[in-house]
Amino acid sequence: MHYVVAYLGTNATCIHLRIVAARKNPTYDPPNASFDPDTAGGFRPAAALFRGIAVSRKRVAILISGRGSNMEALIAAAAEESYPAQIALVISNRPDAPGLRRAAAAAIATEIVDHTLYRDDREKFEGALQEKLDAHRIDLVCLAGFMRLLSPNFVGKWQGRMLNIHPALLPAFKGLDTHARALEAGVKIHGATVHMVVPEVDSGPILAQAAVPVRESDTTETLAARVLDAEHRIYPAALKWLAEGRVRIVDGRCRIEGQVDADGLLFVPKIS
Ligand code: GRF
Repeated sequence: MHYVVAYLGTNATCIHLRIVAARKNPTYDPPNASFDPDTAGGFRPAAALFRGIAVSRKRVAILISGRGSNMEALIAAAAEESYPAQIALVISNRPDAPGLRRAAAAAIATEIVDHTLYRDDREKFEGALQEKLDAHRIDLVCLAGFMRLLSPNFVGKWQGRMLNIHPALLPAFKGLDTHARALEAGVKIHGATVHMVVPEVDSGPILAQAAVPVRESDTTETLAARVLDAEHRIYPAALKWLAEGRVRIVDGRCRIEGQVDADGLLFVPKIS
């Protein structure tokens, strides 16, 4: 879908009429490289008009099965005017997921696609999911505690446009009970990963990871809470990069354009 916005801009000496074409998908790509939608050449009414009408924020669906704290972190980030994505839809496969109430409280559209109604017919279940995504004109999908396996066919449709967050430093501890397994393994550093979804579970190119220390006194609960806090920071950042069109897959790995590598060293336990 293309749409065109004409607006008036001005500077001290003349008035310009500029035509800006914004494409819904892929990312909005202004033809005039010097154009700044935040200022619209210093003409504030035009800037307001542009922000209100023409900027194409990616429409994101979040798929959940439970409490939805990552969903809330994404909703909070997207509430910022400058964030390049809007949360347009939350889908749960569980009618009683607490996250549904939280999404509704944030005035986000919600849908339920109850997997139990499809009697293990994954194709039909995914067909129903896809219908909802289409109906809400979704560009990007974020899995956030969504506890259903997705078929290669469905994943293929969303290739490069579907993210997942996993509570471990992948490729370590794929699957469930990551915190208990990390404690049992005696690792000193644990964390979380945001990655592209590929048919193989908890795999796919990594966009962002956060590491947290594992403490001697940790229980699965304390460790999970520390990791969850880190999840809430990296998921909004990763979605932002994807929505900005800055994520490229090179040789099966994510490259984030314009992203500066983190530096510094982390030692756990402390080395004095
Ligand atoms: C998170 O730990 C996430 O990494 C994992 O499932 C949990 C979902 O938590 N995939 P919430 O529903 O986002 O609070």
